[in-house]
Amino acid sequence: MTGINKQRYRFSEAPIWNIQRKYYEEEGLKAWNNDQVPQYITCNPLIAAAYAEMIFGFLQDRANKEDRADPVQIVELGAGAGRFAFHVLHELCRLIDYAGIALPSFRYIMTDLAMNNVLAWKEHPALQSFIAKGILDFARFDAVQDTVLHLIVSDAAIREGNLKQLLIIVANYFFDSIPQELLYVDEGQIYEADVFIEYPERKDSLKPSEILDQISCNTSIGGRRSTSKKVILIAMS
Ligand SMILES: C[S@@+](CC[C@H](N)C(=O)[O-])C[C@H]1O[C@@H](n2cnc3c(N)ncnc32)[C@H](O)[C@@H]1O
Repeated sequence: MTGINKQRYRFSEAPIWNIQRKYYEEEGLKAWNNDQVPQYITCNPLIAAAYAEMIFGFLQDRANKEDRADPVQIVELGAGAGRFAFHVLHELCRLIDYAGIALPSFRYIMTDLAMNNVLAWKEHPALQSFIAKGILDFARFDAVQDTVLHLIVSDAAIREGNLKQLLIIVANYFFDSIPQELLYVDEGQIYEADVFIEYPERKDSLKPSEILDQISCNTSIGGRRSTSKKVILIAMS
């Protein structure tokens, strides 16, 4: 790697975000093969059971409210490999069956930027029973640009103003996949941190996965290079 390919950017405007987008769009579910993208911490049965209990409690709270005709919608942003959704639905159905009480209907909507993921979930054998029950739908949704969810099983659209029930949004391990600002707080002052990107040689001939593997990123605070622990990520969107 040489210094010729080095450039400085505001963090939110750095090319890493676009390379990452292309990576997810190109790889589809292969991004979760061989531990390329970690998943166990957000997709294990224990954490999914905790979410299922919260959703179950929410459905109980809504049981005596108005607007019961419409389902409660649970939208998962950046659902990735889909394992979290599977575990949540499995546990939520178990809780509802066990409780045997009347609850509002619900619909879980798995979404992702990568259309390859959406198409793979729709065909996945482990999800078919939830689709058949009418409690699972899918949409390709770019959380940075899109404003409408087009559901591919029910052919319904969810847009601003057309929901009668409250919406639950799940976004696990997601906000570091969409552009963020990088801010530094020190002695009462807030500074913006820039990032130096050093590209691999011949980057234009590399796949996004190869660029991500070889790219080097360093932060700069007030003109000083830093890997300080005080750097914090602020979710701006
Ligand atoms: C780090 S993975 C996390 C996946 C899953 N939530 C998990 O916990 O394993 C980030 C996910 O966000 C998706 N993603 C990236 N940018 C996105 C965007 N702008 N809108 C929606 N999804 C996006 C990726 O395709 C990927 O599935």
